[in-house]
Amino acid sequence: MRNLKSNTSSKQLVLPHIFACLCFVVGISNVFAADAFGGDERSAMRLPANDPRVAVSIAGEDRAYVLGQMRLFLANIQRVTAALGNNDLALASKVAAIAGAKNNEIDPSRPAALRAQQPDAWNQYIGKVRKGFDDLASTAATAPVSNSLSKLAGVTENCVACHQTFRIID
Ligand code: HEC
Repeated sequence: MRNLKSNTSSKQLVLPHIFACLCFVVGISNVFAADAFGGDERSAMRLPANDPRVAVSIAGEDRAYVLGQMRLFLANIQRVTAALGNNDLALASKVAAIAGAKNNEIDPSRPAALRAQQPDAWNQYIGKVRKGFDDLASTAATAPVSNSLSKLAGVTENCVACHQTFRIID
C-alpha cells in the first residue's frame, strides 16, 4: 500500500516534467521551423478563416484535366526523388523530362481553350515548373545528386507559390 502510494506520487511528479519537456521541444522546433521556412510559411500553416487565394474558374473536363496534371506533377516528384535517392541519375533525368516543357508542348489531351482562360501569372507559374523540370532533367543526368535536389527545390518553389496564390472554383 505504502509502495503503491509512493509510486503514484512519483508518477505525479514525473508526468508534468515530461509534459513540460515536450512543450519545450515543440516550442523549439517551431522556432527552427520558422527559421527554415520564413515567417510566411509559418502563417500559411495556420490558414485564416477566409481563403485569401484568387479564385480561378475552371469547370468540368478542364478542371479534371488541370487536377490530373497536378497529380502527375506530384507523382513525378515522387519518382524523381526515389531515383535520386537510389543514385539512379539516368532514371531521375528521364522522369524529370516527362514533366518538362519540351515533352508537353504538344499535348493532344489538353482542352484547346484552357491556356487562354488562365490568368497570366498562372501560365507563368506553369511555364516555370515545366522549364524547371527540363533544367532538372539535364542536371540530373550528370551532376551530383545535391545539385539536382537544389533544382527540384526550385521547381517545387513554384508549386508552393502558385498554390498560395490561386484556388479553383467551378
Ligand atoms: C499555376 C498554378 C499551379 C502550379 C504551378 C501548380 N499547381 Fe498544383 N494546384 C493548383 C491549384 C489552383 C489547385 C487546386 C487547389 C484548390 O482549388 O484548392 C492545385 C491542386 C493540386 C493538387 C491536388 C490535385 C487533386 O486531384 O485535387 C496536387 C497534388 C498538386 N496541385 C500538386 C502540384 C505540384 C506537385 C506542383 C508542382 C510541380 C503543382 N501542383 C504546381 C495550382 C498550381
